Amino acid sequence: MQLFAWPRSQLLEIGDQRWCPAWLHQHEQLVLTQLWNLSLPGWSRGSLATQACAVFKEHLNDLSSYTVLDVCAGAGGPTPVLESELNKQLEVEGRGPVQFVLTDLYPHVEEWERISKKQQNVTYIETPIDARAIPRVAASLKKECRIFNICFHHFGDEDAAGILKSAIESADSFIIFEITARDLWTCLCSPLVFFWTFFVTIVWYWSSPVHLLYTFIVPVAPLTIWIDGFISCLRTRTTEETWKLLDQPDLDLTNWTFYSGKKTVQFPFITLYYHVGIKS
Ligand SMILES: C[S@@+](CC[C@H](N)C(=O)[O-])C[C@H]1O[C@@H](n2cnc3c(N)ncnc32)[C@H](O)[C@@H]1O
Repeated sequence: MQLFAWPRSQLLEIGDQRWCPAWLHQHEQLVLTQLWNLSLPGWSRGSLATQACAVFKEHLNDLSSYTVLDVCAGAGGPTPVLESELNKQLEVEGRGPVQFVLTDLYPHVEEWERISKKQQNVTYIETPIDARAIPRVAASLKKECRIFNICFHHFGDEDAAGILKSAIESADSFIIFEITARDLWTCLCSPLVFFWTFFVTIVWYWSSPVHLLYTFIVPVAPLTIWIDGFISCLRTRTTEETWKLLDQPDLDLTNWTFYSGKKTVQFPFITLYYHVGIKS
């Protein structure tokens, strides 16, 4: 549903600030990871994470030759589900597993360790990695797919163009996933994450006095997620704006193909938007 649109503004999110306390940043990361997994029987078409799996299956047909680099991984986002769902299918087809590597400027190591212990095909880099200076991580015989899960809007045009240039020059494919859009309807829906935060705190942080205090007594955490979600809406690029970033004089796009689309998850509130680039 696209109600009105206006120019993009590169505002700052609270979670991007150096002064944002680690517990709040990590709480925000986990709230988003759980949102990827939200599925309401009878209403949802899968979850955001399973719809992301569908995007992979539709666009990358040689998945087992890939290492997927989750560039701003947060608390894992959809990656645990991507790994289990995609590798389940590859196993049935008798093909080798796709590997995933988690990185972030603010590594959520405790959560990544937990995921990686359960899922051997998920590893992580413990040190901070800035999305604006990503090294290639895939082994020489592997292809690399870089995924940007609900983070690409964090970067201004110059940084975002540099991130895509690096993906084109050093990787073999990339996928940008967004769940926000710069329109009135999505802005109006943004307060929903305020209430989602209450649910995540009660289920995942029920034994943490700090999280309970700053969710239910002084609602710092829900307000932060709401503000950041609203700002994310204002920063998210349209499809045209995303692909315009590739208009760079010295960027060779020969052999690259680009696709964009969207998948409804919980109509009319949650939609997954994606932009895919693949080198043939
Ligand atoms: C909105 S969260 C998304 C987290 C996760 N991808 C998900 O889908 O749940 C944005 C993430 O980007 C990370 N981030 C922000 N700036 C970054 C940068 N310059 N380089 C790498 N990660 C960055 C933050 O630490 C945060 O984990």
